Amino acid sequence: MSEAPKTATLTIDGKNYDLPIHSPTTGPDVLDIRKLYGQAGVFTYDPGFTSTASCESTITYIDGEEGILTHRGYPIGELAGQSHYLEVCYLLLYGALPNAAELEEFETTITRHTMLHEQMVNFFRGFRRDAHPMAIMVGVVGAMSAFYHDSTDISDPRQREVASHRLIAKMPTIAAMAYKYTIGQPFISPRNDLDYASNFLRMCFAVPAEDYEVNPILSRAMDRIFTLHADHEQNASTSTVRLASSSGANPFACIAAGIACLWGPAHGGANQACLEMLKEIGSVDRIPEFIERAKDKNDPFRLMGFGHRVYKNMDPRATVMKQSADEVLELLGVDDNPLLQVASELERIALSDPYFKEKKLFPNVDFYSGIILEAMGFPTSMFTPIFALSRTVGWISQWKEQLSDPAHKIGRPRQLYLGEDVRSYTDIENR
Ligand code: SDX
Repeated sequence: MSEAPKTATLTIDGKNYDLPIHSPTTGPDVLDIRKLYGQAGVFTYDPGFTSTASCESTITYIDGEEGILTHRGYPIGELAGQSHYLEVCYLLLYGALPNAAELEEFETTITRHTMLHEQMVNFFRGFRRDAHPMAIMVGVVGAMSAFYHDSTDISDPRQREVASHRLIAKMPTIAAMAYKYTIGQPFISPRNDLDYASNFLRMCFAVPAEDYEVNPILSRAMDRIFTLHADHEQNASTSTVRLASSSGANPFACIAAGIACLWGPAHGGANQACLEMLKEIGSVDRIPEFIERAKDKNDPFRLMGFGHRVYKNMDPRATVMKQSADEVLELLGVDDNPLLQVASELERIALSDPYFKEKKLFPNVDFYSGIILEAMGFPTSMFTPIFALSRTVGWISQWKEQLSDPAHKIGRPRQLYLGEDVRSYTDIENR
């Protein structure tokens, strides 16, 4: 006999309200409050959404206490170690690992969508050369809705799929063009004979004046960084994409909204802020000074790359990223990199400090990524564009999942109003 549905009883002014409880595959139960306002005339209040599930999803699961991250059930450590980014893209988009034929077809499709509409090149030329690459990416991705009209009708599953493929395929091209534009070098076209990560590295670092050979160590490390950033449940930028999509906005506008949100230093912008912080610390002997600043309530300084809304244990991506940093720097012969020494010592000191232990602050995905990216030759301004490039498949997979839910509706939160009560207008002579 099936179990009776679980409910919670809320009592307000002596009246009881039964709220259904739904149980997940794994993780915390959820209290269904969808009918609460209609029944009890009250809102719930959760400004940072710390206790709020915004949707049902089958894509990514995070256990913050145990430091677990899975994509469609597969642990991130196994995917980063045994899979590769485009295979993870297929997994996130379609829910299962592809067989050989499916993977080949998918990779061919993505490869053949990497070029950008030639008219968009003029779009780039409108930016100042010192524009931040994220400013360019937000603008160019949003402008894609002006160039790819045949994949903006979200009611057409085929157009949704074409838009998904175009965004995954073109983000490396756009990010590389943003980089080239800011350093005054000519754009390098993608090549169909290169894998996704190698293509990106070549578009960033090749120049027309000579041949460019992609270093396989760097392309493997680049691909792993893409995989580690691919999706992460209902984080701020993914929630932004879902909210934008709930109004029926086209996919390019929704992803541009996600890029804009990711840019913040509390979110994806932390990788740039973290490396700048490590450079400001400069040497191991200055670490205590910064640890004290991070603990000082009167100092707005925070240890960038540390802490997480969900992880109250080590971010599993940081663990893999640290291993990759050690490998890449050693293979590149720069394992005496002072920044890596500062980062490793900062992690050791912070993790033994009572403040960080009590608040369960651990290194997150942004703590080590910048060290690898800098060793690969990227300026700090390109760190968040690379995060945005990687996360596009996550945003698109979540966008696709939301649109395929026939019950989805426009997101429209309410508020706790603390402003003035109704009052009459007074003429200026009487103020
Ligand atoms: C990403 O959500 C995601 O999944 C994001 C992400 C993804 O893949 O999409 O994982 C990517 O954004 C990773 C996070 C990158 N951001 C940073 O590294 C910036 C530094 N970290 C913080 O700003 C902070 O930890 C957040 C924003 C990441 C999380 O903030 P919360 O959950 O709102 O936690 P909080 O601000 O309430 O902090 C709890 C306490 C506070 O102290 P009290 O007010 O309780 O006394 O911990 C302190 C904070 O002051 N604290 C820190 C700290 N982070 C939190 N103190 C010093 N240094 C820090 N980094």
